[in-house]
Amino acid sequence: MATPAELAFGRTDLDDGQLGHLQRLLGTWGILADLSFSDLVLLAPMAPDAPERHGDGTELVILGQMRPSNSATVVEHDLVGQTVTGAEWPLAVRTVRSGEVSRGEVILEPGDEPVRLHCIPVRCEGTTVAVLARLAAGAGRRPGHLERTYRDLFDRFAIMLAESTFPFPSEEVATEEAPRVGDGVVLVDEEGRVRYASPNATNALHRMGMYSQTEGRRLTDLGIEESAIEWALASALPVVEEVERRPDVTVLLHCIPLLANDDVTGCLVLMRDVTDVRRLDRLLLSKDAAIREVHHRVKNNLQTISALLRLQARRLSPGDGRVALFEAERRVRSIAIVHEILSREPSDQVPFDEIVTSLIRMAEDSVVHSQDLTFEVTGQLGEVPADVATPLAVVLAELLQNAVEHAFLHSKVGDLKAGDSAGPFVPTTPGGGGPIPYQAPGHIRVHLVNDLSCLVLEVIDDGSGLPEGFDIDATESLGLSIVRDLVRSQLEGTITMRNRNDGDAGATGTIVTIELPTQEAQPIGQ
Ligand SMILES: Nc1ncnc2c1ncn2[C@@H]1O[C@H](COP(=O)(O)OP(=O)(O)O)[C@@H](O)[C@H]1O
Ligand SMILES: [Mg+2]
Repeated sequence: MATPAELAFGRTDLDDGQLGHLQRLLGTWGILADLSFSDLVLLAPMAPDAPERHGDGTELVILGQMRPSNSATVVEHDLVGQTVTGAEWPLAVRTVRSGEVSRGEVILEPGDEPVRLHCIPVRCEGTTVAVLARLAAGAGRRPGHLERTYRDLFDRFAIMLAESTFPFPSEEVATEEAPRVGDGVVLVDEEGRVRYASPNATNALHRMGMYSQTEGRRLTDLGIEESAIEWALASALPVVEEVERRPDVTVLLHCIPLLANDDVTGCLVLMRDVTDVRRLDRLLLSKDAAIREVHHRVKNNLQTISALLRLQARRLSPGDGRVALFEAERRVRSIAIVHEILSREPSDQVPFDEIVTSLIRMAEDSVVHSQDLTFEVTGQLGEVPADVATPLAVVLAELLQNAVEHAFLHSKVGDLKAGDSAGPFVPTTPGGGGPIPYQAPGHIRVHLVNDLSCLVLEVIDDGSGLPEGFDIDATESLGLSIVRDLVRSQLEGTITMRNRNDGDAGATGTIVTIELPTQEAQPIGQ
């Protein structure tokens, strides 16, 4: 949907170059509001054929509004998008027509006190395209040094607006960090000598170790790196630079050259002491590093545990104990995978698709050589909360393992004996000579869906299907009991296991579906 400002721009007949010029002005004019201690409003003539026009006379539409951050506002309402007629704002209409500055008063709301109005033409390549209106309360006490300096500066900008030299062609829209007038103002002349330094700027200079009187001296003589100010004076373009003085003080400089008649007559330097901001940045970075390190160590410890379990399992003779140890080893390894990924990108959200890839690799490793199994992933889960990722990884590891171990056992095919397998997980039935992996190619697919309200994870195989009378609620074996508990209690989801030929005649194998309702899942691509 278009914003009020976009709609307002749409009612003018400005060309693209003029639009860009005014948008750049709106990107930087906070400085002007602060220098003039005034509310600013930008008005442009409405296109003659704009449907919202009230009459035939010149009518203006308000494209933008800026409040000063260093004094009280006189404009209570949001004016952007409103239109004003020549009867309501005669001075603004006069400035648009004549291209001359005009001063006087305006009544913003019927019944309100009039406020002072100062209309400045805004030219783009010589053509008056808009009016910058400065609105201020009636004159109060005599202004001090700071106020007089700022107002003078504003007047120099007003000339630049009328001479088409402000905003600058390349001025970037102000970032949140960009220094504002209240952060500190230094005015230098065309030779780079300081003419004025505001109290906050003086503080910043002190923190940089410059205690001597600054006025009349060059900042470069005082030790500030010359490049930013010199470059702004030489190029007549604004320069932003971050200056580090002593290891612990960082100041952001925004140097704006002041022009008159195409000559550089000085430079406005806004400076902001960003030492604390940078220190926080560094702290955050080191906090990230610490979290990453913790995950890394947890992963290493889990890998050590899994190696110990594997060693111990290898020492046992084939049988239940050995299988159990190998299974425990595998479960620990599936948790280590989650920490491995968190150690790379510590965050509350984990890219689960990477975990899926690692778990599949783990399942592939346990496939017996004589089995011909292929794995496939369809769909994506995207990012899932870290506390969901760990149990879900254990569940998926379990399901993949079941598909490898049970789906493709077929007693009528194959000539292997159970003990021959290279992989540790070929189950041996008591008494030996039990089910044997068959050699027909098998296919295991992990299907993932994240539709914002729900995460769906399916493991589909084209093997022999579930044993007759199988009921997930009735199984007491450890693997599926773990899966059931994790899905239902910890993840608050549902699990179903069914034979594929139930719904799809001719298909064989098993389909396990896990659904987790969630508000927290991040949609893919965000
Ligand atoms: N994908 C599958 N295909 C065929 N049978 C399966 C499948 N998944 C599980 N089963 C059946 O469910 C049983 C229980 O699985 P589980 O609880 O993981 O124990 P285990 O893997 O130790 O046998 C398996 O023994 C097997 O009979
Ligand atoms: Mg199992």
